[in-house]
Amino acid sequence: MVKIAVLGYGTVGSGVVEVIERNRELIEKRAGKRLEVKYILDIRDFPGDPYEDRVVHDVDRILEDPEVEVICETMGGVEPAYTFSCRALEAGKSVCTSNKELVAARGAELIALSKEHRCNYLFEASVGGGIPIIRPLNCALTAERVVEIAGILNGTTNYILTRMEKDGADFGTVLGEAQKKGYAERNPEADVEGYDACRKIAILTSLIAGHTVDFREIHTEGITGITPEDFEYARAMDRTIKLLAESREEEDGYLASVVPCMLKKEMPLASVSGVFNAISVRGNTLGESMFYGKGAGKLPTASAVVSDVVDCARHPGEHMTCIWEEEPVHLKPFEERISRFFVRAARAGEAEADAVFGPAEKIRLESLPEEYGFLTEPMTEREFSRRQRKVSGFIGRIRIKD
Ligand code: HSE
Repeated sequence: MVKIAVLGYGTVGSGVVEVIERNRELIEKRAGKRLEVKYILDIRDFPGDPYEDRVVHDVDRILEDPEVEVICETMGGVEPAYTFSCRALEAGKSVCTSNKELVAARGAELIALSKEHRCNYLFEASVGGGIPIIRPLNCALTAERVVEIAGILNGTTNYILTRMEKDGADFGTVLGEAQKKGYAERNPEADVEGYDACRKIAILTSLIAGHTVDFREIHTEGITGITPEDFEYARAMDRTIKLLAESREEEDGYLASVVPCMLKKEMPLASVSGVFNAISVRGNTLGESMFYGKGAGKLPTASAVVSDVVDCARHPGEHMTCIWEEEPVHLKPFEERISRFFVRAARAGEAEADAVFGPAEKIRLESLPEEYGFLTEPMTEREFSRRQRKVSGFIGRIRIKD
């Protein structure tokens, strides 16, 4: 028997209890043990809930109970989740979490603490919701040098971009509808500004590098500046626009970023629509491998948390290796990132733009007679900014993913 406590009985926490109940027989067979949710920590009471009698308001009841072996931390945010997780690990209790903010901020330290106390800090649900990606990186691709990860790691922004593409609607209108349907948070900043995807690519990069990536150093742009006109151009070039979180190992460090990109429709990531997520992993001997599925939502995310609980049940008293040390990863300056750029500019200044960027593939739309678009040659961000400043009719740019 493994006794569990769930910290935070919100969307994911209640999902953890539901997944255990719904698939109990299978889960227990796979775990090789019975599972019991002994406590649920929340500041609220839940009258009428079947687990009402397990709800406690004092975390000490849980942390001081030697029967509890595994904690599911589904609170979100750095504090008090960090303090509770440290105390649990110091008491030898494994922690399984969906909390990407905490994993991105303190992952290495919490893994080290779990190693010291012969237990585990597991975080399958922190990236890609229900898509298995942490365990494949940690346990399956152990023969690979992973040299690149590119992903659509945020469902809200992918839903918004998909609707903008299909309906020609503007960002604000689609965001409002997504909020009404409950897809987007009432405060959508973390999603639409790319901060959520930034933490997720920081976690993935830390895992492939084995050292800590400071998410604050990752260049991050969101989708608030993307317009229906950008999609018109994309369509004319047989491309679409996606918010891509990317990380690539180069000779002198890792290049990581979260930026909207235009990609050819035939590329696998281009066909990932709506709230779905996808992660492409490139290994030096394997080549490309893709992971696709529901990146958010109560039950998919809870399923990933419970899969970590099963791992803990299978390895009592054992720390499962996860190489992610505190020493920082050298991130290359974003200014050195090389790509082609799609540029929108005023037709009146076309000769000037030609002189600055040289001959280019041009796109003209009947619906936008005052402007045109062109594709640059590959160049660094630094070089692009230098040239862009010389183009007085510059309207906007989106990076090209080739
Ligand atoms: N808000 C996130 C998304 C889900 O829209 O993908 C949790 O990571």
